[in-house]
Amino acid sequence: MANLENKVVIVTGGARGIGQAFCEKLAKDGAAILCADVLDGAETVDLVTKAGGRGLYVKTDITDVASTKNMAAEAVKAYGRIDGLVNNAAVYAGLKMCPFTDINEAEWDKVYNVNVKGNWQCCKAVFPYMKEAGGGSIINISSTSILQGVPLLFHYVGSKGAVWAMTRTLANEAGVYNIRVNSITPGYTLTDASMQLSDNPEDFNKNYERNINDRALKRGMMPADLVGAAAFLLSDESSFITGQNLNVDGGSVHY
Ligand SMILES: NC(=O)c1ccc[n+]([C@@H]2O[C@H](COP(=O)([O-])OP(=O)(O)OC[C@H]3O[C@@H](n4cnc5c(N)ncnc54)[C@H](O)[C@@H]3O)[C@@H](O)[C@H]2O)c1
Repeated sequence: MANLENKVVIVTGGARGIGQAFCEKLAKDGAAILCADVLDGAETVDLVTKAGGRGLYVKTDITDVASTKNMAAEAVKAYGRIDGLVNNAAVYAGLKMCPFTDINEAEWDKVYNVNVKGNWQCCKAVFPYMKEAGGGSIINISSTSILQGVPLLFHYVGSKGAVWAMTRTLANEAGVYNIRVNSITPGYTLTDASMQLSDNPEDFNKNYERNINDRALKRGMMPADLVGAAAFLLSDESSFITGQNLNVDGGSVHY
């Protein structure tokens, strides 16, 4: 268990799936949570409260500058500071695996607008507060798919590669203010979103089995498998770690 007492953490995309698991775990470890999502975060706030923590939901569209500024301002209004940001929101649910030649141009733009530009907007929104407070920790959620070169999700995998590269460049810019920036690359994790990547249940089963076979640890991966890594990177235990990627995938990719 990481010690996150007195820390304030914003989790984008916290209304469901992996983001919701982050909110619950970080609250258990003592952090006050702001769940930012376009979807309703009431269920997440309830889980945070049941975990003994403090939680707040602020409806946020990370592609909208005013909305991300409001997200950061609401965190400071409620809790007085911002220590951590988990950039977890992304266009993932609803994507269907298909050849790169068949990707719809509007979907391409949406993926990059949310997954890449949205990440930038959220970093910009918290930056003045972290700078003034003398530091902070940002975690960008990328994906093991960038290391595997997973086929048939060309736009998504490219966007997560950008998130990885942005982590390194921002770590170098923000380090002077004691703001740390790291990424996590999750392996294929069972969530509503990942289970819907194909309409064909046979594709899902094949994908699921292949992922297990490729791993050193032979089992399916759950959101709970990711939360410890995030808690560590937000805690003072990782205070000299920045610009790094922590690959959490049960050992499918060793790099
Ligand atoms: N599930 C996996 O196998 C897997 C693997 C690697 C990486 N990831 C990454 O982990 C993260 C969470 O994945 P998940 O499986 O829980 O998917 P998900 O689609 O359920 O979660 C994404 C969340 O982001 C929110 N969101 C989308 N657009 C937004 C916007 N414009 N503003 C604010 N919020 C927005 C959604 O409402 C949702 O709550 C994503 O970044 C995903 O790319 C997932």
